[in-house]
Amino acid sequence: MEKIKVEASVTYDVLIGTGLLEKSGELIKNKTGVCRAFIITDDNVEKLYYEKVNNSLEKSGFKTDKFVFKNGEDSKNAQTLINILETMADKKFTRSDIIVALGGGVVGDTAGFAAATYQRGIRFIQIPTTFLAAIDSSVGGKTAVNLNSGKNLFGAFHQPSLVICDTDTLKTLSREIFLDGVAEAVKYAVLKDESICSDIDTDIEGAIKKCIEIKRDIVGKDEFDTGERQLLNLGHTLGHSIESLSGYKITHGHAVSIGMVLACRGGEKMGITQKGVTYKLINILKEFGLPTSCPYNSEELANHALGDKKRDGDSITLVIPERFEKCVLHKVPIAELSVFAGE
Ligand code: GLY
Repeated sequence: MEKIKVEASVTYDVLIGTGLLEKSGELIKNKTGVCRAFIITDDNVEKLYYEKVNNSLEKSGFKTDKFVFKNGEDSKNAQTLINILETMADKKFTRSDIIVALGGGVVGDTAGFAAATYQRGIRFIQIPTTFLAAIDSSVGGKTAVNLNSGKNLFGAFHQPSLVICDTDTLKTLSREIFLDGVAEAVKYAVLKDESICSDIDTDIEGAIKKCIEIKRDIVGKDEFDTGERQLLNLGHTLGHSIESLSGYKITHGHAVSIGMVLACRGGEKMGITQKGVTYKLINILKEFGLPTSCPYNSEELANHALGDKKRDGDSITLVIPERFEKCVLHKVPIAELSVFAGE
């Protein structure tokens, strides 16, 4: 088992390895002691892994309850959050109890935000079951649900007490869901370490470790996203607009894949990105089977970007690669966003 220590306002471990779900009770007990555990998951993950985690928690002395919601981005909303909080209050959970988020990014973000707000904040454990959640959303303490106007607009920073990443769970992912994580892994490759691209097919545990180490370093320096952490938004600003404009039919990683291409191509047009970087990125993404063309025009993207949290007045900060392993933050006036749309 690999252990990566994240040092933010809370110091916690990310454990990576096989067979960890069966041991999750003991691993969590070592961190929190015995208490009540509120397991939050979705209907897909419940069928696959709930029993394993629940048995392990009960065997270690935890008293458990569960909350299961319908899988998918549509569930990541304020109503689901309220339903979770009302259920916890009904069941008399206290501030010394924990939430266990068992699932992908939607579960982790929603359960994490419930933990951030229930009785002004309780501890929570992330057990990511998708590649994307393992390398991105489960680490770093960004928690949120979506509003009608956009993604993650209702949220808080709240670090988990422990992250348990059982790589066996990746074996049950559909190719499409796995690809959402691949796009995030390619993001880390473009940001800091190109070798991640070849690890994805040959050494998935190694790829996960490299991605989390990059995120650990960045979150350790800029937990609250005022500077360097914004680099992790490579492909995300335009990606979130694409995701949202599609009614979440284009899923997160697929939208980020297109968003990275737009950032690179726009960067080339502006003379920031070296010639040929976009071509190289497109080839890598296509080889994995990820999309690289944007179905929306510049007007649609610019209109949507007006509601983005990263907007500052009439400008928006985009992450633009100069080349692989060297990206910069660049303020772009909304009126000039059209440079980033189109072929
Ligand atoms: N997903 C980007 C971040 O955690 O900052």
